[in-house]
Amino acid sequence: MHIAVAIDGPAGAGKSTIARAAAAKLGYIYVDTGALYRAVAWYVVDRGIDPQDSPAVIAALPGLQLDLRYIDGVQRVFVGERDVSDFIRTPEMSMGSSAVSALPEVRDFLMETQRSLARRNDVIMDGRDIGTVVLPDAQVKVYLTASAQVRARRRHTELAQKGEQMTYEQILADIEQRDYNDSHRAVAPLKRADDAHLLDTGEMDIQQSVAALVALIKNSL
Ligand code: DC
Repeated sequence: MHIAVAIDGPAGAGKSTIARAAAAKLGYIYVDTGALYRAVAWYVVDRGIDPQDSPAVIAALPGLQLDLRYIDGVQRVFVGERDVSDFIRTPEMSMGSSAVSALPEVRDFLMETQRSLARRNDVIMDGRDIGTVVLPDAQVKVYLTASAQVRARRRHTELAQKGEQMTYEQILADIEQRDYNDSHRAVAPLKRADDAHLLDTGEMDIQQSVAALVALIKNSL
């Protein structure tokens, strides 16, 4: 039986950075499920489809060959044989993925990919509905969060380092919009599972957050 750690929480809480580092320390595979929703958005945009155009997004799904592969222990997302991992990290794909993720057809389409990874490996899987829907029997569940202002400030610094010009106010507005979308959609909305531990990283740096997460996992197993 493999170990599954489910990590959910809002956009920009540092889930991926913290979960990836914790997985490396524990020797588990890190699965970033947001990348799957982003890859769906990338695929439809690449075909000239607006991610808000639900019928067109749903009609395009059967042609989508999506795969998560691990290259030197690093997750890469493939659409067919194309590695799109670097194209899915734009503000456009953030909004597009939030739109497509509201569709039950898209969520169903991605379910088996996620579950099969957890059947075959010890995983730390992060997303919005991992502890509630994808892996309800995960041995450890964590709801990782920080205030919208803290998350916007962090993302602002991160984007500025990449040379992207976006104001703090714009980033905060995007984060608040995505929080709203993700937690108000009808299907698998973002919410803390009843049995999830709450980890608020608002007052912690990355190292402290990773240490807190690893301790939480070890104490729970
Ligand atoms: O974690 P992220 O920002 O890369 O996720 C992109 C979008 O995908 C996010 O707005 C919500 C959606 N998502 C989801 O609905 N369920 C998941 N398990 C992961 C992401």
